Amino acid sequence: MCGIIGYVGRNDATPILLEGLRRLEYRGYDSSGIAVMNGSQTIQVRKKSGRLQNLRDHVADSPAEGDCGISHTRWATHGEATDENAHPHTDRSGNLAIVHNGVIENYQTLREGLEAEGHEFKSQTDTEVLAHLIGKIYDENSDESDPQKRLVSAVREAVKQVAGTYGIAAMHTDAPKFLVGARLGSPLIIGVGNDENFLASDVSAVVSHTSNAVYLNDRDIVYITEDEFRVETIDGTASSYEVSEVDFTPEQAEMGDFPHYMLKEIYEQPESIQNCFRGRLIDEEASAILGGLNMSPNELRDVERIVLCGCGTASHAAMAGEYIIEHLARIPTEVEIASEFRYRNPPLNKNTLVFVISQSGETLDTLAAMREGQRKGHKVLGIVNSVGSTIARESDGGSYLYSGPEIGVAATKSFTSQVTMFALLGLLLGRMRHLSVDYGNKLLEEIRTLPAKVEQILQQDEKIKEIALKYIDAEGMLFLGRQFNYPTAMEAALKMKEISYIFASGHASAELKHGVIALVSETLPSVFIMPKDSVYDKNVSSLEEVKARKGPCIAVTTEGNTELEKTADDVIYIPEVAECLAPILAVIPMQLLSYHFAVARGCDVDKPRNLAKSVTVE
Ligand code: M6R
Repeated sequence: MCGIIGYVGRNDATPILLEGLRRLEYRGYDSSGIAVMNGSQTIQVRKKSGRLQNLRDHVADSPAEGDCGISHTRWATHGEATDENAHPHTDRSGNLAIVHNGVIENYQTLREGLEAEGHEFKSQTDTEVLAHLIGKIYDENSDESDPQKRLVSAVREAVKQVAGTYGIAAMHTDAPKFLVGARLGSPLIIGVGNDENFLASDVSAVVSHTSNAVYLNDRDIVYITEDEFRVETIDGTASSYEVSEVDFTPEQAEMGDFPHYMLKEIYEQPESIQNCFRGRLIDEEASAILGGLNMSPNELRDVERIVLCGCGTASHAAMAGEYIIEHLARIPTEVEIASEFRYRNPPLNKNTLVFVISQSGETLDTLAAMREGQRKGHKVLGIVNSVGSTIARESDGGSYLYSGPEIGVAATKSFTSQVTMFALLGLLLGRMRHLSVDYGNKLLEEIRTLPAKVEQILQQDEKIKEIALKYIDAEGMLFLGRQFNYPTAMEAALKMKEISYIFASGHASAELKHGVIALVSETLPSVFIMPKDSVYDKNVSSLEEVKARKGPCIAVTTEGNTELEKTADDVIYIPEVAECLAPILAVIPMQLLSYHFAVARGCDVDKPRNLAKSVTVE
């Protein structure tokens, strides 16, 4: 949510900042802006509402040059998406500029205090208030003759007065080639280059310049010049840090020949699923190994209950995880939406294991749920994709998905990898309990077949596209499934609504008759996710009930089960697979269906309206 990149070096900052913003645009795309400084001249600010191209056009008309700058792509929180509300924001003097990701909760009080002192504001943002506050503290500290120290100290004193979250980058005309950053609750990294350094919200912004990054911690204050950087705690003492190697290449974060990141990421699933289980299947034990959990076999055997926390797609994967873990390991498991968990006081005993699930590892609600669990003395493990993210660093252990960068706002490959991870976890915990060697071996075999089976589904892309086009005028869509595929139905509905903006909802099929069936009409298609499994016949009855009311039906079922062609209007086939792994396959046609549907309706699937990839505000 909001992307920041700052640069200090020997090159022209503007193209570097614009390129970084292109890579960060998935974090927010309501407006964008840059502030560039050359020597100690004035700060040149260029900003525009709307997509990054508007800023590019503006900069082409009105160039800004310099070897030091900050920039921002915004997901609006305070104030509409206008030019005035776009970042960077400057202080009263115009000599200081900042960009900010996060929410200053007490901005109204701070603003009123500053207004009483004569400060005038041009925007409705909380960020401009912070800019004025830093500027005021800077101006008042005339005893400090070193402008760099004065700026660091002004940032430090200002953030101490702030309630809320921030990841910021600031610069001042008195301190050329010098940037100050600070974080609390919103991610910030240093990209460590040769004769150049960067501040950014995430490594994807800097990966084409350097593969070395420092992941900052909450309450760190940092400053960078072109040849050095320093990380301090909020009280000014040196902070410890590690320079880590970025785990993906710039090419991996590009679209390649695909028209959208979402489609590219759907097509990457054979590989991303394979990466998730590679090296984690143990034939000798008919089990799985997840070393990062940092738990001994005895500790794992003692687990009596599991709580899975996440948001959006991650919560749907967790729902599938609940079915899988209970099926394989018989450990009572429940899913908590992270934003609910953090404010609830659920009774958890000492043998409860909490998992937080997050692609980005930065989702604020999930991060807060993790900290809440830890505060109560529980071990909280992370299932995370983004290496080095805050959840990855602060959790008590966990496992990476290794899906590679997921840039499309609609989560796709992270879902299938998260569900794969739950299959590994269920197998590991199950084999420590009642699960037989035979069943363990069978599951290992089945897991290994997943990538090839996903390939097979992807080959039906054209057919799925035709089905999407057939229903292009649908007013909405229902998604229905049972047991392991109830979460698939939830996830399919989320995909459809977030990228095509039509009404869509996912339900357990049997819930139809308890109310949802009232929605059924000739213009509202129902999609039944109904592989030939233990609840297949029950799903058939639900489908018949919809057909009896003239509702169009699309069925997703197992290859060879052609009988549905008689009742359903359209049938999509997925290969046969163990029942508990079916969501991993069944969701793929659903991703393709929503993708083609949204593209045909002219929607920007990679940047759906009102959304951003990584939700780092509450
Ligand atoms: O990065 P996370 O997995 O924590 O993100 C959680 C949700 O914000 C995310 O899955 C969101 O629902 C996606 N837009 C769904 O496609």
